[in-house]
Amino acid sequence: TQRTKATDRRGNADELHQGAARGGPVMTTAQGAPLADDQNSLRIGDRGPTALEDFVLREKIFHFDHERIPERVVHARGYGAHGYLETLEAIPELTRAAIFQRRGIRTEAFVRFSTVAGNLGSPDLARDVRGFAVKLYTPEGNWDIVGNNIPVFFIQDAMKFPDLVHSVKEEQDRGWPQAASAHDTFWDFISLMPEATHMVLWTMSDRAIPRSLRFMEGFGVHTFRFVNASGEATFVKFHWKPRQGMQSVVWDEAVKINGADPDFHRRDLWNAIQAGDFPQWDLAVQVFDDEFADSFDFDVLDPTKLIPEEVLPVRVIARLTLDRVVENVFSETEQAAFCTQNIVPGVDFSNDPLLQGRNFSYLDTQLKRLGSTNFTQLPVNAPRCPVAHFQRDGHMQMSLQSGRANYEPNSFTGDQRGPRPDLDGGFRSAQVPENGDKRRIRAESFADHYSQARQFFRSQTPVEQEHITDAFVFELGKCEIPAIRTRMLANLRNVDESLASAVADGLGMPLPSASPAAVAPREDLPAS
Ligand code: HEM
Repeated sequence: TQRTKATDRRGNADELHQGAARGGPVMTTAQGAPLADDQNSLRIGDRGPTALEDFVLREKIFHFDHERIPERVVHARGYGAHGYLETLEAIPELTRAAIFQRRGIRTEAFVRFSTVAGNLGSPDLARDVRGFAVKLYTPEGNWDIVGNNIPVFFIQDAMKFPDLVHSVKEEQDRGWPQAASAHDTFWDFISLMPEATHMVLWTMSDRAIPRSLRFMEGFGVHTFRFVNASGEATFVKFHWKPRQGMQSVVWDEAVKINGADPDFHRRDLWNAIQAGDFPQWDLAVQVFDDEFADSFDFDVLDPTKLIPEEVLPVRVIARLTLDRVVENVFSETEQAAFCTQNIVPGVDFSNDPLLQGRNFSYLDTQLKRLGSTNFTQLPVNAPRCPVAHFQRDGHMQMSLQSGRANYEPNSFTGDQRGPRPDLDGGFRSAQVPENGDKRRIRAESFADHYSQARQFFRSQTPVEQEHITDAFVFELGKCEIPAIRTRMLANLRNVDESLASAVADGLGMPLPSASPAAVAPREDLPAS
């Protein structure tokens, strides 16, 4: 009977294989050798050992063994889609970026949305910041706006990023939580870092549990620079405004959805695009000069601060449309490598110390994550414009680097010569004066940690304020160490007394005295 069953199985497989060979491509090894059998390893006799010479089996298992690459150290869980950016307003007076020289220019785009703390398999509706990373394949190279759905960040200096991330990720002794901020180490760190207070108010708000990736804003967060053809620079902040509007779920819904459908957000984006309901965002900018920057008490280089839109309205310059799902999540979404240092002529950095650190971090981590300096050649990362340089070799070199010279200067001509820099059209950094002593110090202008947190809380409707209060009670209620809760309450007193006492009530704790604030929070800011 055994023998008959085995023969039957082989019979069915043969039939399937012949069908595939007739109707579709023939299965091959990675070297291209056509296969006759994908069911059985090469064995000696009916019940004997497997032969070492079975290159078909060994190659298949070898490749499978190496399928996983490291997940992103942060923003591991994400979902991407293709689309395009359409320029709505030409702004040559602000930037020489090719895509803003004429209305109507269409630029290919790839976007990856993500949560920050959770691992690759974590649920979509965790209370968390959402990444909003956009790659624009411009005619002058790739421009990445690697932003979030919250306009400010937890920390002011890149030096603290590893600490922030260690505190929010699963605790090293117990291995949880895998996707939540409601635990001791996160709140311990936050309570000791008053600069995080503003962002924490946002993450306790409904912004951190979006109804859909389609219904959220995006922000470049840092102050960047635009540079025009005459070399004149202005400051700029980038905003993505969803044309669908903004929607969030409430916490009860988030918890249920996470249990019932942890893929809720990715499914929603996929379904909308497949149904032809293409999500759109307006790209808007806040542009300002040094004089305007100096008019604030806070520093525009401080990523824990925003410039209220009431003070400086946003100006819409382009529209992003997502109209194509990926064909392969690994090849596209997972292998996509965004980096803040990917800018184009007409765009430049500011001295924001968080941005400066990010510019190092992304390329560095991607070498480890993707395994080769040549990841820029992967289809999702490859510029759509010509690329020519003397960077050579490396693991997985996929481009045929022809010509004779691979150095510069050289005296060869024609095909043998290779590329030369373009003195007129090439990228030039904004010429801004810099001076000062080299030292490790936090500027006084970065010292006010509470005024904008207060402004944010007071700008919320009563229901939204209730949600923030409930979120603090829930999250701090998960902290096992009472001193952490007390320290957070002491910080919250600097934000808003009613918030601090409502959270204390919810936790059943007495209200401690307010923590000392380096700069007294301002009372007079309009609720924006
Ligand atoms: C991803 C570092 C701050 C937005 C990442 C990754 C690293 C990183 C190492 C993984 C990248 C990869 O494996 O491809 C840092 C450092 C920061 C910082 C060192 C501060 C010093 C921020 C801020 C934002 C942000 C302020 C938002 C404005 C993102 C996004 C991703 C990401 C959206 C995911 C990109 C994707 O979808 O592939 N970050 N980050 N990060 N970061 Fe940051």
